[in-house]
Amino acid sequence: MGGSTKLPLLSLFSLAVLLSLPSPSSSSSHNTFIRCLANHSAPSHPITSAIFTPTNASFSSVLEAYIRNLRFNNSYTRKPYLILTALHVSHVQAAVICAQKHNLLMKIRSGGHDYEGVSYRAERPFFILDMFNLRSVEVDIDTETASVQAGAILGEVYYNIAKKSKTHAFPAGVCPTVGVGGHISGGGYGNMMRKYGLSVDNVLDAQIVDVHGRLLDRKSMGEDLFWAITGGGGASFGVVISYKLKLVRVPEVVTVFQVARTLEQNATDILYKWQHVAPSIDNDLFIRVIIDVVNGTQSGTRTVRVTFIAMFLGDSKRLLSIMKESFPELGLKQSDCIETSWLQSVLFWTNINITSPVEILLDRTPQSLTYLKRKSDYVKEPISKEGLEGIWKKMIHLKDTILYFNPYGGRMAEIPANATPFPHRAGNLWKVQYQANWQEAGKELADHYIELTRKLHKHMTPYVSMNPREAFFNYKDLDLGINHNGKNSYQEGRVYGVEYFKDNFDRLVRIKTQVDPSNFFRNEQSIPTLPPNRKP
Ligand SMILES: Cc1cc2nc3c(=O)[nH]c(=O)nc-3n(C[C@H](O)[C@H](O)[C@H](O)COP(=O)(O)OP(=O)(O)OC[C@H]3O[C@@H](n4cnc5c(N)ncnc54)[C@H](O)[C@@H]3O)c2cc1C
Ligand SMILES: *[C@@H]1O[C@H](CO)[C@@H](O)[C@H](O)[C@H]1NC(C)=O
Ligand SMILES: *[C@@H]1O[C@H](CO)[C@@H](O)[C@H](O)[C@H]1NC(C)=O
Ligand SMILES: *[C@@H]1O[C@H](CO)[C@@H](O)[C@H](O)[C@H]1NC(C)=O
Ligand SMILES: *[C@@H]1O[C@H](CO)[C@@H](O)[C@H](O)[C@H]1NC(C)=O
Ligand SMILES: *[C@@H]1O[C@H](CO)[C@@H](O)[C@H](O)[C@H]1NC(C)=O
Ligand SMILES: *[C@@H]1O[C@H](CO)[C@@H](O)[C@H](O)[C@H]1NC(C)=O
Repeated sequence: MGGSTKLPLLSLFSLAVLLSLPSPSSSSSHNTFIRCLANHSAPSHPITSAIFTPTNASFSSVLEAYIRNLRFNNSYTRKPYLILTALHVSHVQAAVICAQKHNLLMKIRSGGHDYEGVSYRAERPFFILDMFNLRSVEVDIDTETASVQAGAILGEVYYNIAKKSKTHAFPAGVCPTVGVGGHISGGGYGNMMRKYGLSVDNVLDAQIVDVHGRLLDRKSMGEDLFWAITGGGGASFGVVISYKLKLVRVPEVVTVFQVARTLEQNATDILYKWQHVAPSIDNDLFIRVIIDVVNGTQSGTRTVRVTFIAMFLGDSKRLLSIMKESFPELGLKQSDCIETSWLQSVLFWTNINITSPVEILLDRTPQSLTYLKRKSDYVKEPISKEGLEGIWKKMIHLKDTILYFNPYGGRMAEIPANATPFPHRAGNLWKVQYQANWQEAGKELADHYIELTRKLHKHMTPYVSMNPREAFFNYKDLDLGINHNGKNSYQEGRVYGVEYFKDNFDRLVRIKTQVDPSNFFRNEQSIPTLPPNRKP
């Protein structure tokens, strides 16, 4: 652009922006924003092919490609007025700079697995910075590290590690289509948690684009900001470009099993024992429990089914001896055990036939999608048998709720509660996840199922943490409270912030206030800035 044309052009732009401020969805504002994007990205990487507006024929499919909760795939959910599918870091930098210049709300999406759709919806006009194109995974077995970009999915991370080494892995989530950007910045746990801790306990470095559009690494961002984006959620602090991960060692043969018991098969007694065993058993062993309501043997009756799903970092012989010694009530048999590679165990955990080609982990489309609602809780004392029976009664009455219990202990209890923003460490026996899944559209139906999870959550009150009642940040739950976008909402933010982060919330707020005082990086449950009258 020649110097002589610059000035008049600029003032024309500013005028257009001013006139269109109340409604950023107007096309003149789009155009100035789009021209700003073009102006601020690297000439070697044209940004125009990354810009999708509603008039583009691919707009809907780009938007829907990473909607992982069908509850938000409908006509009444507000759509973005633009999606930027960044192809290069300079596109991210341009988005951050231009969005602030034009006072636009930006949502960041990597894998789109946010339970509340926070990465791709909003109550007011917004655009999406979509990260799925930035997804390189580089594994270096010599240094036992991997550099993974935010748009990679966990399946790609696991596959690429295993391609280089059968005895290395990374402790992260069990669902292979979850995105690195949201998962790791929000904590990230999986079935090696009792042995190796969370994903964030194994992060060495990170790259982030900050509010000034600078690309920073751990050294240049400083330890505070690095700490914040290892569990405090990336979206409050910047755009995570990549993480450098410390790989962990796994044996060539691991063992998995899945064993179900109904109430008639002593499920209550077995689960009662599980509470005492699972959080303290050998760190190589992780036994998840899934509880659902199924038809009873007599027609018209219902019962509760408790399914034990395990990951053991060793062979079946050692597993059986540990189980015989510590948890004979389950009655685990050799024939229940499947010995396999660590990579194939990922298939097992996500309900894919274990004999399927492992390349299926590179598939970015989930096996199935549902309408869903999730909530969470933490349990610190075993629940009595009477308590368990009361829960069964409630679940049989509600019918369509599911509980997941994920045992803690082991490495999780050794890491100090302030080492990362994730605060739920020693003293927690397990985490509860509440689920409702359904298969049909409709707001009333959604309200019905959401209400079921709230009822069960309410019923659990006597058995779970209180003051605060804790929740897992990666299990986003807007029932805990929201801040209203655009306002400085410290008081609102404190409500959910303390449930997710307990004592670490204050440090997150201080860091937020330092790195993003104007609260550009915000969403329904982001970390608020300190009110101006309060000193950090
Ligand atoms: C089927 C399923 C299985 C799951 N299993 C597990 C599990 O085993 N363990 C576990 O810990 N969690 C699990 N989760 C929860 C999951 O970890 C979180 O939903 C996580 O935030 C998803 O990351 P994402 O990138 O896919 O999501 P997105 O929806 O893209 O993002 C989630 C949040 O992170 C922000 N964000 C995304 N990318 C970036 C970025 N690059 N920079 C800054 N902010 C960013 C978004 O703005 C949003 O606020 C599961 C979720 C689903 C739907
Ligand atoms: C383009 O960028 C330059 C600096 O990189 C800036 O001076 C100029 O005002 C920008 N023009 C527009 C239209 O944003
Ligand atoms: C939609 O966007 C893509 C990518 O930028 C572009 O190739 C295509 O021509 C656009 N289509 C329309 C109808 O604008
Ligand atoms: C999402 O909604 C669109 C538009 O109604 C529909 O075409 C698409 O099939 C839906 N996606 C899924 C996975 O159901
Ligand atoms: C249930 O427990 C009782 C007593 O502990 C035992 O006799 C019975 O065999 C068990 N039933 C099953 C199905 O395991
Ligand atoms: C359970 O029973 C109900 C009727 O009571 C029936 O409609 C349903 O199909 C049954 N479900 C299964 C999985 O058998
Ligand atoms: C898995 O696939 C194999 C080969 O196709 C088949 O023999 C086996 O029955 C399948 N197992 C399950 C549990 O579906």
